[in-house]
Amino acid sequence: MKRIVVLVSGNGSNLQAILDACQQGRINGSVAAVFSNKAEAFGLKRARAAEVPAHALAAAQFADRAAFDHQLMLEIDAYAPDLVVLAGCMRILSAEFVQRYAGRMLNIHPSLLPKYPGLHTHRQAIENGDEEHGTSVHFVTEELDGGPVILQAKVPVFSDDSEEDVTARVQHQEHAIYPLVVSWFVDDRLTMRQGAAWLDGQQLPVEGHAFE
Ligand code: GAR
Repeated sequence: MKRIVVLVSGNGSNLQAILDACQQGRINGSVAAVFSNKAEAFGLKRARAAEVPAHALAAAQFADRAAFDHQLMLEIDAYAPDLVVLAGCMRILSAEFVQRYAGRMLNIHPSLLPKYPGLHTHRQAIENGDEEHGTSVHFVTEELDGGPVILQAKVPVFSDDSEEDVTARVQHQEHAIYPLVVSWFVDDRLTMRQGAAWLDGQQLPVEGHAFE
């Protein structure tokens, strides 16, 4: 059984989708631990409700990013994870951290990458009058939101949409695609090689696998 460590900062609805998929056997693995850089993150409560060890590390307790990331790596490694999953982890991770989990760390980002890396993606899509928006699961590399895309899901944007409408529509898709990608990884179907994502021995195109 593959071991998954999940990093959150907030609500943890993507964590919940992964916990549910593990429990229902849709992911052939288990969440070994959850970490948050915010002690109040609801994701930690979701972990404890699922009887998964939940830990908070506050950046304020460390001298700098390197010290924080070093401690986080030590604590993560105690769980010997096969996969590290960033699920709404809103902290920038150091190059050392990224390198340690290279090829076995995934992120979900709420845009159709490479469009809109960074923050406030839904607002940007609305303000730019985009008719299409979405979310991307990708391998994490040192480039922020720049690693190879594995799977994207698209949603429509309507002219009278609020940011909340778009967020809800995107998150509904996230809860479907993130557990699916995690299941591919734990089933040894998914790898990162030569800066690209590969599924079942096929190199995925830059927009990732076409999600029907
Ligand atoms: C998700 O929509 C995820 O795409 C986004 O944060 C949300 C977390 O929701 N991630 C980022 O913006 C990362 N740059 P959740 O805590 O309910 O899973």
